[in-house]
Amino acid sequence: MIRAGVLLRWRDRLPVTPRTPALTLGEGDTPLVAAPTLARDIGCAELWLKVEGQNPTGSFKDRGMVVAVAKASEAGAKLAVCASTGNTSASAAAYCAAAGITCRVVVPEGKVALGKLAQALAHGARIVVLRGNFDTALSAVRALTARGGIALLNSVNPYRLEGQKTAAFEIVESLGGPPSGLALPVGNAGNISAYWRGFVELGMQLPIYGIQAAGAAPLVSGAPVEHPETLATAIRIGNPASWTLAVQAQRESGGQFAAVPDEEIVAAYKRLAAEAGVFCEPASAAPVAGLLRLARERPGRFAGQRLVAVLTGHGLKDPQAAIAQAPPLPEPVPAGSIEEALR
Ligand code: F0G
Repeated sequence: MIRAGVLLRWRDRLPVTPRTPALTLGEGDTPLVAAPTLARDIGCAELWLKVEGQNPTGSFKDRGMVVAVAKASEAGAKLAVCASTGNTSASAAAYCAAAGITCRVVVPEGKVALGKLAQALAHGARIVVLRGNFDTALSAVRALTARGGIALLNSVNPYRLEGQKTAAFEIVESLGGPPSGLALPVGNAGNISAYWRGFVELGMQLPIYGIQAAGAAPLVSGAPVEHPETLATAIRIGNPASWTLAVQAQRESGGQFAAVPDEEIVAAYKRLAAEAGVFCEPASAAPVAGLLRLARERPGRFAGQRLVAVLTGHGLKDPQAAIAQAPPLPEPVPAGSIEEALR
């Protein structure tokens, strides 16, 4: 089967014109996977994992990137840039390669998962490593692109959110209606805004739980965090660009922001892989850790509910995190001892 991709499948709901190139790498149409043991501990009837790591570059960013890059191409852009904690840069590099646009990415020093950097490099993007964190990098590229001539591919580009809202459409289609609630990790706050837009366009209201890492939780504390820290590097962001939209999504949806410490993120990350069979990157486990925490704080609050947790990126994005959490490899054994070793 040829996958239609986001632009073709949702063209009636996207800013597509006859001149928009039919760009696709087969993004979207990701599965919902059941997680019964986690559902039991959250105390809900059903927990569905929206496995966004199955997008072409391994994260949800592809849904919005395909629209942003197609529109940049339609407008005649030759050069595009983004700031990124990693996934945006991998996605931008891949779609720019396919569209024939030169791509530059700006990443904060030190804290970007290696799988993501490898992707950006493989797709031919030039990487600039900036002294400072993501927030510094985003301000720098925003100032640069404001002068014109270079397309900005961060989620402040409105086409990104347009594409990302299609995940909400898919969830409603797959479940045959809206879930009781939806939890997702929040970093720069584009995705929570996009989901809310998607549900609103369908005329649906459901609580959205925006989960942040405790060391990078400005939306929970209500103030920017100058030095955000978390092992979930994808959401190591102290001053989200879509702050206002995210607060609007939380308020209008009747949802909540919550913070989870790194230990709880890691525990959920391990359980997702070991119990549900879904290997996601650490940031993507935050919504499951968040639901578990909210359920502990108020037992019974999710009783009878059908919940969705958005697992935003694939586990292979951050092999170092996975290896750090695993037991060390055992000593090699001779072939003659294989039976004993496997017992
Ligand atoms: N999960 C993953 C795996 C991410 O890469 C990101 C953001 C988020 C969640 C948060 O989404 O920013 O829309 O609230 N990554 C961006 C990047 C910042 O540069 O790749 P958000």
